[in-house]
Amino acid sequence: MAFSLKEFVLEARSAAAEEHPVAAVNNLMVQTFADPDAIAAAVRPFGTGDETLYEDEQVSVYWVSFAPHELVPPHNHKMPAFLGVYQGVEINRLYRRARTGSLEEIKQKRLLPGDTLSLGGEGIHAVYAEGDAPSLGLHVYLGSLSTIERELFDSETGESMSFTTENYHKLVRPLD
Ligand SMILES: [Fe+2]
Repeated sequence: MAFSLKEFVLEARSAAAEEHPVAAVNNLMVQTFADPDAIAAAVRPFGTGDETLYEDEQVSVYWVSFAPHELVPPHNHKMPAFLGVYQGVEINRLYRRARTGSLEEIKQKRLLPGDTLSLGGEGIHAVYAEGDAPSLGLHVYLGSLSTIERELFDSETGESMSFTTENYHKLVRPLD
């Protein structure tokens, strides 16, 4: 079936407005990413990084590209987050905070085209694209991601700091 980015944004907005938005958005992601080739055929890459497709107080919809050889530092979202990959391979390192304040990696999720992943508001992940090509995907968040106060973490020390562009650049790591 043909994919339309405009239609996906509308569907994400109505799923987020449902009585059980987590289940509704999850269903939407699973259904949408069942045909990753249709998304790849319909969506022209926006370039590197993120592109905000829609954002209000209730929902944010982003087009997201992760670069190879670069680890996006561990961070939370402070709202439910839904990730889907339609091109490339994306590695998500999932963490929890230990009582001592350090960061513990609990598992890795390798997302292939068609795979989706959801994270709770306190979920922490670090992300990179496997291989030499970027990974391309769509993310939905249940809130206004660009305006909420959230955190970045130093993967070595577990130190948390506010999610600002400056801190982000301080923590982003090359991968070899
Ligand atoms: Fe994230």
